[in-house]
Amino acid sequence: MKVAVNLDLCVGHARCQDRCPEVYGTDEHWGKCKVLIPVVPPQLREGARLGARNCPEGAITVEEDAP
Ligand code: F3S
Repeated sequence: MKVAVNLDLCVGHARCQDRCPEVYGTDEHWGKCKVLIPVVPPQLREGARLGARNCPEGAITVEEDAP
């Protein structure tokens, strides 16, 4: 599973980071989302999905593994 952030949409709410700080951080310079682990291991996937769902801007996309 992969996650990515669209920095044109992100405005720095940091709700992604609140929900899953292992996967989402904040860029110190821009104050926007920084994906820390773009290829998400199984134990962090639920958190990563939760973080993506909680972004009010819909800035995070989740690409699930092919079945
Ligand atoms: Fe940005 Fe959304 Fe996170 S606006 S900082 S991706 S909650």
